Order: sequence, then C-alpha cells, then structure tokens
Amino acid sequence: MTASELVLPTCDFTVFGATGDLALRKLLPGLYQREREHQLPEGTRIIGVSRSDLGDDGYRDMVSEALHEHLADDDLEAGAMHRLLSRIHYLSLDAASGDDWHQLHGLLKDRPAKDGKDPEKDVVRVYYLAVASHLFGRICERLDDLGLATPNSRIVLEKPIGHDLASSQRINDAIGQVFDESQIFRIDHYLGKESVQNLLVTRFANVFLEPLWSSRWVDHVKITVSESLGLEGRAGYYDDAGALRDMVQNHLLQMLCLVAMEPPTQVGGNGDSVRDEKLKVLRALAPLTGADVDTATVRGQYTTYAEELLRPSNTETYVALRAEIQNWRWAGVPFYLRTGKRLARKESRIDVVFKTPDHAMFPGSEGGTTPNQLTIRMQPDEGMQLHVTAKQPGPGGIRLVPVSLDLSYDSAFAERCPDPYERLLMDVMRGIQTLFMRRDEVEAAWSWVEPILDRWDEMPVEPVRYHPGSEGPAAADRLLARDGRSWSETTA
Ligand code: BG6
Repeated sequence: MTASELVLPTCDFTVFGATGDLALRKLLPGLYQREREHQLPEGTRIIGVSRSDLGDDGYRDMVSEALHEHLADDDLEAGAMHRLLSRIHYLSLDAASGDDWHQLHGLLKDRPAKDGKDPEKDVVRVYYLAVASHLFGRICERLDDLGLATPNSRIVLEKPIGHDLASSQRINDAIGQVFDESQIFRIDHYLGKESVQNLLVTRFANVFLEPLWSSRWVDHVKITVSESLGLEGRAGYYDDAGALRDMVQNHLLQMLCLVAMEPPTQVGGNGDSVRDEKLKVLRALAPLTGADVDTATVRGQYTTYAEELLRPSNTETYVALRAEIQNWRWAGVPFYLRTGKRLARKESRIDVVFKTPDHAMFPGSEGGTTPNQLTIRMQPDEGMQLHVTAKQPGPGGIRLVPVSLDLSYDSAFAERCPDPYERLLMDVMRGIQTLFMRRDEVEAAWSWVEPILDRWDEMPVEPVRYHPGSEGPAAADRLLARDGRSWSETTA
C-alpha cells in the first residue's frame, strides 16, 4: 500500500483563522490536492471558523477564489473543486470571546444521520489553530467546556509557540490541561518538505554516509534559508517576532537536528524515536550566552524595513550564527545557520562540507582537490547534489576539476512534489506524529535561543543594515571568514 493509499478516517476538520493567509494559501489548497486524489473519505467535513461575517456560501466563494489563485491551472479540476466545496461549512465566531460557540457545538455534535457515524467515536475531530499563539489556551478551554475535546480529537498548532520559554511553557500547560501530548500536533512545515524527509532516508536507508558523518570527516555544516520577499502583510506579527523567533527557533534548528541526530530505532510509529534523538541534539547545543553571543551571531535588518513597516524598528530581519554541538559525534564541527528576508534569492539548502584528504596524492596535477560537499536543496528545485573531484578527460597530465552528481526530484520522479502542508495534514488525520515537534523539543529550542535574545536586549545594538536584493550583511561573511570558511559554494 503506498502512502497515498493509506486510508484516512472520517474527519471534522475545523480551521480557526479560516480567512487568514495560511488557511487560504496552504491549508485549503493542501486539502484540495488530497480531494483530487479521492483521499478524503465520505462524510469528512471542513469547518472554517473566523470572526468575519460570512455564510457557508460566502466562505466557499472565498475558498474557490483562493484555490484559483494559489494552484496551478493544470491542478484545477471542476469535479474535485465541487467535491471539496460541498464539504465546507463556515461559522462566524470570536475565538477570544465566549459568544457563538454553541454553533460549533451544534455542528460537530449533530452530524447528518445518513452518515451513520457516531460523532464521538467514529469521527476524528481536528482543530487547526491558524491563529496567534496567545489564543491557543483559550480555544482549548472552550473546546473542553463544550465537551468537544474528545479522546478522538487532535489539535494542530502553528509556530512559533510563545515568544520565549516562559510564554511557551504557559501555552503548552494550558493546552496540556485539555489535550494529551499524543493529541497535539505542533507544525513545523519544513519537516513536511520532501527533501527534508529525504535527508532521513539518505542518512538511514543507505550505509555509505554513516562512516563519514562525524567530526572525523565533516569539516562544517551550513544551513541557509534565504527569502526574497519582505513583510507580505504580516508586519504586526513579524515585527514582534523577528527572524530568530520566526525561523531559527523552529525551522533552522529542526533541520540542524535532522542532520546531526543519531539513528532513531525507527522512523514511524508514534514518532517518539525520531523526536527523542532530535531532543538530544537540542540539549547538546553549546549554550551561546553573554559576550559569546556578540561574536557568534549577526543581527541584520534590510535598509527599507522601517519604510515598509511605516515606523522605526530594531527587529532583525536577518540572523547568522555559529553553533556547536557538544557530543561525541560532532565536537568541534561548526554549524553555521543563516536566514533573512529581502535577500537576493529564495533558496533553502543544507551544505555538509567534508574535509579534504590529508595527503596530496596528485603532486604536479593542475587544479586541486576541492572538499566533497553534500547539498540538500529544499528550494528551488528540490533535490540533492554530491560534489566530488574528478579528472578532466584528456591526454597528458592530470587536471582535477570539481563536478557534481545531481539528483533533481523533478527529473528523477514522475510524481508531483506535494506541498509540505499537504503531507502534514494527512499525518494529522492519520495520527502520525513523527514530523511534528514535541513539547520538550520546542522548549529545548527556546532554552537555547533565549540567552541570545536576552543578550540582544541587554546590549541594544542596532542591527547591521543590508540592501534589499543583496546577499545579506557583510558581517555574516566575516563570521565564517574568521574560521577560514565561506558561505559561497567552493565546488561545482
Ligand atoms: C514561515 C515564516 O514559517 O516560513 C515565514 O513564518 C517564512 O516568515 C516562511 O516566510 C518560509 O517558508 P518557505 O517554505 O517559503 O521557505
């Protein structure tokens, strides 16, 4: 049975924040794609909840417009569109206040009799909270008061959970009063990217990398998530968060974990085996505190940020940092992380750069050995490249040149690369937690990030400026240059 054939249970999929950007750009298109594959079982309903005063039809129109906007023309099929829209209901409800919740109660409890499903036992209730994290506790409390948080229910939370360790603990405590950890799905959509999952497969379904995967042969690791866009209508949230909370605390640290973790006993099941190993990595990160923060981190802001925000601000839109993992496998290997907005290009990648041979075997050869490098490309063009040194064909002496073995998903596989949300939504419905963050992971990540935030607060230096469309601040280049390394590719 292939993954796409795995049977889904009948669900009532309730989205809080249903008119927001995430719901319309990612969640509904993701559900549509599964509808197209006939994967959503009969009786599954999608219930949009938000404050806007729309009826079922008004929301269906909004969803239809969003699907036309966010999906490729080739993906739009009238039949699938009709089937999806007919599953949709809409409730106008203020998540923060107590009014109107009885409507949700009514809808969830009174399923159409023709289904013959017991709403308490036969239907999985998914509550997707695409709203600010300070509302999470309140929503869970209301679901509990109304008896809607049944053992068959799951709650999905968007990152970042909280603003720091204490607020994240408060939120997790409030959710934990109502839902068991096995019912809580904390989304980090980077874990749903095909290439990120493939990193696990490459490492653990093959043998060739394992002997090389340590400080014995790895020189350093670079993780880059660069974006060309800026605030995109999220100024309120973003200016409060900044790049460290928005990207590093979750996406970049999660990728670092997948590169660095020990082999889990299995990938699958309830996911704890993978999550246990990721947690060990987070806990082994060398703390960055006090003056170390000044030398090991770079905070940047693009020069037109205040103009876009319509007020001055010290929030960072760029972070670069040097991390180390204090364990047997990785001691002494720097992990360089960088992320920023309004940079030259949209690109996410992991580069594992290996050491060069100790002994020069080709004296007198032209060219030189370049370090082997494994690059995992998340975007654009998901795939993997292995950079090696080869002999340039030709008579006479030996000329060494860097070449790359290239796996592009697009050309290697006929299947469409699904959007990460598509995959993650299916896992929520099936109850598979491997690709979701457990509470202890989220809190370990906050514990590591918090002293950096504290230092930046204590020593309120202005972020270094970089020009929109550039490669980012020069200080980020100096961070690596100090170690004799560079962000740029040195290989083919
Ligand atoms: C989100 C951040 O989690 O990830 C955004 O909140 C960011 O600020 C986005 O733009 C990047 O995701 P992707 O998949 O487009 O790289």
